[in-house]
Amino acid sequence: MINPLRGMKDTIDEASQRYTYFIENCSRIAKNYGFSFIETPILEETALFKRSVGESSDIVGKEMYQFIDKGGNDVCMRPEGTAGVVRAFISAKFDKAGGVKRFFYHGPMFRYERPQKGRLRQFHQFGAETFGEYSIKEDAMIILMLQEIFDFFGIKTKLLLNSLGCKECMPPYREKLVKFLDKTEGLCEDCLRRKETNPIRVLDCKNETCQNLLQNAPMLSENLCESCQSDFSELKTILDRFDVSYEVDTKLVRGLDYYNKTAFEFISDEIGAQSAIAGGGRYDRLVEFLDGKPTAGIGFAMGVERLLDLIQMPNTLREGFYICALCEEASEKVMELVIKKRKSNVVHTNYEAKSLKAHLKAADKSGVKEFVCIGEDELKNGQVWIKNLETKEERTLAFEQF
Ligand code: HAM
Repeated sequence: MINPLRGMKDTIDEASQRYTYFIENCSRIAKNYGFSFIETPILEETALFKRSVGESSDIVGKEMYQFIDKGGNDVCMRPEGTAGVVRAFISAKFDKAGGVKRFFYHGPMFRYERPQKGRLRQFHQFGAETFGEYSIKEDAMIILMLQEIFDFFGIKTKLLLNSLGCKECMPPYREKLVKFLDKTEGLCEDCLRRKETNPIRVLDCKNETCQNLLQNAPMLSENLCESCQSDFSELKTILDRFDVSYEVDTKLVRGLDYYNKTAFEFISDEIGAQSAIAGGGRYDRLVEFLDGKPTAGIGFAMGVERLLDLIQMPNTLREGFYICALCEEASEKVMELVIKKRKSNVVHTNYEAKSLKAHLKAADKSGVKEFVCIGEDELKNGQVWIKNLETKEERTLAFEQF
């Protein structure tokens, strides 16, 4: 028997109902916030992720599904959605056109991580990205939209928030931090590597020894320029005003290199060790890094699999018809009615003429509201026999009326 690969799974049966319910409602909410759907290729040039997610990240350093294709191109299965959306934005010359653009997307992402509960090698994200909006109000809107999504599904979350500074205050802070790190002995190997490539990533090292060594490290929050400070406090004021609770986490730097200013993560304590259910932030330099005209960017992505178990599904209502034949002669008429009714209804059917009992059982399983059948008598009288599976009420109707 051939099984799915390690860390990959099928979305089937109950999970697929949850999946479509989740995606449909997230899409609806995103559209209400002015986002439109975008789909980008799963396979992109490896250079795209190296230049955006960054060489110092675990994603690029260790986890990429990267290979040389038959044409000799170095390609990679996307580990996340932002880089592809930014590339598409530039490819469509939207950077040159100016103005604000908002996109949402969903689909599979690939990271060669060690699989465990909530951590897959192929997982799905629902994400959104805004371009061309420098106002901190957009950061607030993005967070409010996520909060609305979590509220809709009845998911309890905790929001962690930080500001990483901008191109004015980040470099001097980085210098200060490196000076501190140079004097610090005993950092883990990952931190030593990050000190060279992207020193602020050292701040969120999970290693306890490193965390102890970093206790007296210069803090990001104390080194923000005036404009970053005032934006961050405006963001907090808006969140307070709209009752979104948050915790400022000065060590939250996120695992991808492209962020500046706002960085945030929503976590849940109901799903085990992999508690991050969504993450995002601002990336005002990324369009430029990828050779576009400098354009602000901000967005987020949620991990769909981590959320599916948490969502409260509504009681599914029965809908549509199950139409069937009780004798061979009725099967042509059944097919005709099925095709007509499908123009505006959900219709299940079964092509074999079986006993009434067998058909009723199948109809019940398929979740329809009304059972409709044609046997010898009905065919003779030009009628269908209908049973409402909710009220159990029975009746007959002429073909034309049905
Ligand atoms: P990220 O934090 O790497 O951010 O991923 C976003 C979410 O994807 C995580 O919070 C988590 O729920 C889910 N996720 C990540 N890795 C896995 C995995 N191996 N298995 C299951 N779920 C996973 C990004 O990807 C950024 N592109 C977010 C963003 C958009 N920032 C700005 N715009």
